[in-house]
Amino acid sequence: MLFTPLQTERLTLRAYAPSDIPALMPLIGAREVAATTLRIPHPFTDSDARSFMTATQEELANGNALRLAVVLRGSDTLCGGAGLRIEPDHRRAELGYWIGVPYWGNGYATEAAEAMVKHGFETLGLHRIFASHVTNNPASARVLKKIGMRYEGRHRGHILKWGEFLDLDMYGMVASDTEPVPLGR
Ligand SMILES: CC(C)(COP(=O)(O)OP(=O)(O)OC[C@H]1O[C@@H](n2cnc3c(N)ncnc32)[C@H](O)[C@@H]1OP(=O)(O)O)[C@@H](O)C(=O)NCCC(=O)NCCS
Repeated sequence: MLFTPLQTERLTLRAYAPSDIPALMPLIGAREVAATTLRIPHPFTDSDARSFMTATQEELANGNALRLAVVLRGSDTLCGGAGLRIEPDHRRAELGYWIGVPYWGNGYATEAAEAMVKHGFETLGLHRIFASHVTNNPASARVLKKIGMRYEGRHRGHILKWGEFLDLDMYGMVASDTEPVPLGR
């Protein structure tokens, strides 16, 4: 299915293609990326990559999710991924994102997340977008606050990650949240 890429100042968010696999593997396969995400397998194998490509195409076709490659605008260099897991019955979606370690600290996650949220509200007609991060992921907390999400509470021991129960901090926004939220909580 064709998806018209989203453009930001420095990034393009486009559908994945099987030709992304060689660039994807070392980035998404890094332990640092898997450590604070909920659904990225580690180690990330060739088979995981192929399943990932199939799943993203199927989701794009059935509208249950929009998982996009984040590439540098102009060069098409893959630097990360961003996605919305959509629950159409409730017009809501869960936002997720990751950026490859060599690209951290450039504001790319914030730029990509902002574009996803804008697309979700303005094009997909969502009412609510939410996200969560494990409490030992302050960079993600910062990203969510920068894009205007509001802190909604802590789910204690919600995740069993690599043998440890982790707390999850919840964030969300609704389409009518037009006022910027002051940073910090
Ligand atoms: C979280 C992640 C997406 C951030 O990507 P990024 O492109 O570096 O993020 P940005 O540059 O847009 O913003 C990061 C912000 O966090 C801040 N930050 C980074 N490390 C931090 C830390 N240890 N404590 C507090 N703030 C931190 C940065 O200073 C920046 O804020 P600023 O713009 O106000 O200075 C990236 O680290 C990543 O992919 N991690 C692994 C996967 C993951 O955790 N995904 C999110 C799951 S919820």
